[in-house]
Amino acid sequence: MVGRGPSARSSVDPFRVMQVLAAASARRATGAATYDLTAGQPSTPAPSAARALVHESLESQVLGYTPTPGIPALREGIAALYRDRYDLVVDPASVFVTTGSSSGFILSFLSAFDVGDVVAVVSPGYPAYRNTLQALGCEVLDLPCGPQTRYQPTVAMLEQRLAQGQRIDGLIIASPANPTGSMLAPDEVAALAAFCAARGIRLISDEIYHGITYGTRQQSCAWTTDRSGIVVNSFSKYFSMTGWRIGWLLVPEDLRTAVDALAGNLSICPPAISQIAALGALDAIAECDAHVQRYAANRRILIDGLASVGITDVAPPDGAFYVYADVSHLTDDSAVWVSRLLADTGVAIAPGIDFDLRRGHRFVRFSFAGSDMDVAATPAVLGEYLTR
Ligand SMILES: Cc1ncc(COP(=O)(O)O)c(C=O)c1O
Repeated sequence: MVGRGPSARSSVDPFRVMQVLAAASARRATGAATYDLTAGQPSTPAPSAARALVHESLESQVLGYTPTPGIPALREGIAALYRDRYDLVVDPASVFVTTGSSSGFILSFLSAFDVGDVVAVVSPGYPAYRNTLQALGCEVLDLPCGPQTRYQPTVAMLEQRLAQGQRIDGLIIASPANPTGSMLAPDEVAALAAFCAARGIRLISDEIYHGITYGTRQQSCAWTTDRSGIVVNSFSKYFSMTGWRIGWLLVPEDLRTAVDALAGNLSICPPAISQIAALGALDAIAECDAHVQRYAANRRILIDGLASVGITDVAPPDGAFYVYADVSHLTDDSAVWVSRLLADTGVAIAPGIDFDLRRGHRFVRFSFAGSDMDVAATPAVLGEYLTR
């Protein structure tokens, strides 16, 4: 049709991290020195048990459609992960396997919210929450969070908004969070969950970085799924399987029929081969924990290295694999600064504007998920650049 163009709802911000990543990859392809601390993705492949099971299944199985909520053995295996990791009983019937947590978010938002519903989202935060909600016709309520609350929302913040007459239908929390890595303490998670349950606010807990923590105790909202909360998780990060596009939801009973119907229509089922890989990955806890030890070493190197070049104002990196740093002493436009840094030194990092539309121009995000060599080299390269 002539002149119709894209829908208004599709006018969402791009994910700028992916643009920096593409620029860094293009630079590396030319042979120029590149230190890529852009993406939140492990440099390691899927666990060996996952790959072994895939090899075997390619020869022995048809790999047709699976049940919409996932292969029963995988749903049971995920439920068992909650027993082993958190000592929590999870009903396999609440587990819905999804095409990455990204499609888990679409299913959560579509099943829980109507057009015009107001969903509170923390900034700085993962941009896809905001952009996906907007594309689906929801209203995003920005909750600016800073160092005073460890970049996390509080019950007091929500109470204040409600007292001002603000409508809130949903709340998304992430602990550990992207881009800050900061975590909510278990009692803070419990308080937010209780508050939401009492006020009829649908809580969506993004737990995709669970398993990647550095001493702080992680608390799953899995117990809230008996009532109203939705838990979102993924094999991408802890299990080192970003490209396999496989994740899961824990869905409360009142939403299961809706999620099943939506998932069946939107994608029929998650990819069969990735479900098989995920089944293998569940047996690879020791291998995945070894990756976390490597992240812990890189985290120390990066935090100390950044401090040595005067970048000391960082969010508490309790978990995940990011350092979110205030660089307002270096720039008031971190997007421009980041692209100059890449062009001049080969150091690739993410601008804060992706994660916080209002204050992100003062911040940048370093990821230490990738190559050890890139992480180790970055502080010296940065130090030399800053004294030029
Ligand atoms: C906080 C957070 N949630 C969700 C995702 C999406 O992950 P995936 O779709 O690979 O499961 C990411 C990816 O970086 C993330 O950082």
